[in-house]
Amino acid sequence: MKTRARIRAAIGVSLATTVLAACGTGSGDDEVAAPKVGDFTGRGPITFVSGKDFTGKMPTVIKEWNNAHPDQKVTFVELPEQADQQRQQYIQNAETQSDAYGVISVDVVWTSEFAAHRWIEPLPEGEFETDKMLDPVVEAAKYRGQLYGVPNYTDAGLLYYRTDLLKKAGFDEPPQTWDEMRQQCEEILKVPEAKDMSCYAGQFEKYEGLTVNVAESIQSAGGSIVGEDGKPALDTPEAKEGFSTLVEGFKSGMIPKEAITYQEETGRQAFQKGDLVFHRQWPYQYALANADDGSSEVAGKFDVAPLPGIDGQGSSSLGGWNLAVSSFAKNKATALDFIKFMTSERKQRWSLDETTRAPAYASLYEDKEMVKKYPYLPELKESILTAEPRPRVVRYGDTTAAIQDEAYAALSGEKSAEEALSSLQSRLAGLVGGP
Ligand code: GLC
Repeated sequence: MKTRARIRAAIGVSLATTVLAACGTGSGDDEVAAPKVGDFTGRGPITFVSGKDFTGKMPTVIKEWNNAHPDQKVTFVELPEQADQQRQQYIQNAETQSDAYGVISVDVVWTSEFAAHRWIEPLPEGEFETDKMLDPVVEAAKYRGQLYGVPNYTDAGLLYYRTDLLKKAGFDEPPQTWDEMRQQCEEILKVPEAKDMSCYAGQFEKYEGLTVNVAESIQSAGGSIVGEDGKPALDTPEAKEGFSTLVEGFKSGMIPKEAITYQEETGRQAFQKGDLVFHRQWPYQYALANADDGSSEVAGKFDVAPLPGIDGQGSSSLGGWNLAVSSFAKNKATALDFIKFMTSERKQRWSLDETTRAPAYASLYEDKEMVKKYPYLPELKESILTAEPRPRVVRYGDTTAAIQDEAYAALSGEKSAEEALSSLQSRLAGLVGGP
């Protein structure tokens, strides 16, 4: 691991602990007794609630369960595409204490908020195979040392790049830094096949994906949104350098103007149409962009690498989704069994193969057949292990909204990078325990 990455990994751990402690929400806080696990009784029909099924594989999974459990059928409830909109619906459901939701798919960043409000049940950890899963992934499903969700899949950002175009322009390796990426683009965009293409995009619409990309820009320069002392750290030279690089990317045209409207799926369409040389995206894009049914024009023409940084490899935000039981659900014994089924090693191996979503199980990153098919797996595992959590705070909704507002203002040219960081610094102070 590069020194910077190692320091970052260490900061990541202490940062998480400090922020949590500052908010009185410390995970692994020995003085706070773990809450009693829920009462998982009752069998019968349940719902499984999750965001839009980008992969199209959900019906197959639900059918497998329903065929084997005719008296405990699962109905899939599909929520909108954006994480923020899903969060709103979960909160509304919890506020009315409705039993419409059974097993719910929870973004790693909501763990503290949902657990602190007791919207989800504390789970009996011994009943799941969390000891076989990657540590930071399991950690992200805990609040005050207690498990509240079981990792269904994890996520780290990857740099997708067009191998055919890099080769044409004479490059053997993908870029490790933003500077190298800019220089490669200058040459690549001169190649006739790259006519009308743009250099790079990520997720820059005003929603959770923007928080992810902004955190990554700052981390990749050695900074972080919240510092080791638990206070916002947007006034550091590293934060300024990282975020300004992103803002400059828009100003210089390295990132196309329309990328300000990109979420995961819009960006994926652009990459698949052949509009982008480089794209920051989650692992799920690998399978879809490689589909040979005519839906992707770049099948077989791309590969993935770690995210670029400022003076070396960059650092990803830790993403991923955990399955939790809504506190207001009926038939919680069925809910628990369904989570076991969904999060089993067998199912995650299947899901890796069908959807290229990143599994939580460590062994799958060394599985010979999988590594042969998906040679990037060892690198993806490294990106997950060195990824940094977004601020782990109970008031996550307000925290991410502040990040999104200020970052969007800078990316769209309304504010300078410095102005945006300075107002974000004061807005976050009250939310994450700053001065
Ligand atoms: C992915 C990640 C999730 C993140 C979201 C942002 O789904 O897994 O953690 O919040 O993208 O759009």
